[in-house]
Amino acid sequence: MKRIFLTAVSMLLCMTATQAQFKGELALSQEFINKNLHDGGKQLKYLAEQTPEDRMPRTFQNGKQQPSNTGWWTSGFFPGTLLYAYEGTGDTTFLALSKDKLRILEKEKNNKSTHDLGFMIFCSFGNALRLTGDSTAYKEILTTGAASLATRFSPVTKTIRSWDHGKWSFPVIIDNMMNLEFLTQVSKITGDKKYATLAKVHANTTMANHFRKDYSSYHVVDYDTLSGKARAFETAQGAFDESAWARGQAWALYGYTMMFRETKDKKYLKFARHIANFYLTHPNLPKDLIPYWDFNQDKISSDSKYYPYKDLRDVSTASVVASSLLELSSYTKGEEATNYMRKAEHMLKSLSSPAYQAAYGENGGFILKHSVGSIPHNTEIDVPLTYADYYYLEALIRYDRLLKGKPVILF
Ligand code: GLY
Repeated sequence: MKRIFLTAVSMLLCMTATQAQFKGELALSQEFINKNLHDGGKQLKYLAEQTPEDRMPRTFQNGKQQPSNTGWWTSGFFPGTLLYAYEGTGDTTFLALSKDKLRILEKEKNNKSTHDLGFMIFCSFGNALRLTGDSTAYKEILTTGAASLATRFSPVTKTIRSWDHGKWSFPVIIDNMMNLEFLTQVSKITGDKKYATLAKVHANTTMANHFRKDYSSYHVVDYDTLSGKARAFETAQGAFDESAWARGQAWALYGYTMMFRETKDKKYLKFARHIANFYLTHPNLPKDLIPYWDFNQDKISSDSKYYPYKDLRDVSTASVVASSLLELSSYTKGEEATNYMRKAEHMLKSLSSPAYQAAYGENGGFILKHSVGSIPHNTEIDVPLTYADYYYLEALIRYDRLLKGKPVILF
């Protein structure tokens, strides 16, 4: 009986994996993918040499490295990017380099002062567990990290609190959707459904409050801690409160596509398709599909302090969206699936062109140029960013899997 049950479960898992594959023709070649994985990896080795042992690469600005400590929200991306380079090239140097960084990052599993533990702990240790199966240590780190993140969940607001700073009472930013894969995976690792339940509750509350009628997302929603109701809808990194900050739309698209994968609940898939439609049909999306930092940059007036930066692109958004669309194309059919695939391919081609990809040794060793951290905070403006490289390599790895007839999903 048990064997029949296990066979049925494994058949179901196989079916799910087979379904997570684009069924049409692929337009990019294996040579293209191999070249970009190889060139990206070479650049990462250079970047590793530029980075102090106790720091993580963050950006390169005014001719100088600007590394971060491990408490900064982007600290998990470099070890994760190195793991993708290892996966894509088979070169174990990347695994060793990643392990050096994982060692200094581990302590952040106890950090309860940030919601960014998905980026910090899952993009790093989640990939380490997936690729090495070094189970006991990595499972403990992931589980402790998820428990730290869960302390930020409120049963009143039915969301995970994003920030402890600022003017808000209980701020939740759209970026927080990116923590949910961490929680659903830790439920799988531990068998404790609590984390997956928190993920679903957070995704549902965000779906109800964070989006406008056109399926564009607000950046920050502030919740009333007594009634649990959404009380303010604002931006921190976008052009203005009612604008569509580009990276926020990318986090939303990735988050709801992933929530469909993790739950098989079709409402998340439907939502992801609406978000993709907003993004891909927007009249301000440039022809090379690398977006401006804000979809409503054309509304920035000439007396605004943002005006000089109005036309800057955000490459990090394009990396996240390319990776998301590869997954979304596998959950849809016919022309719709082909459209997502063609758009992802177009984005990957643009990102891999000299306009956005740095030559070896340039750009401080980061792979991609021209991202924007936060124009309102006057930080990281038109620079490389570690997460742009992470999601670019993730997209290349996903595409490589498709070329080899494997499911696009990694987890
Ligand atoms: N999570 C912060 C950002 O996307 O800039």
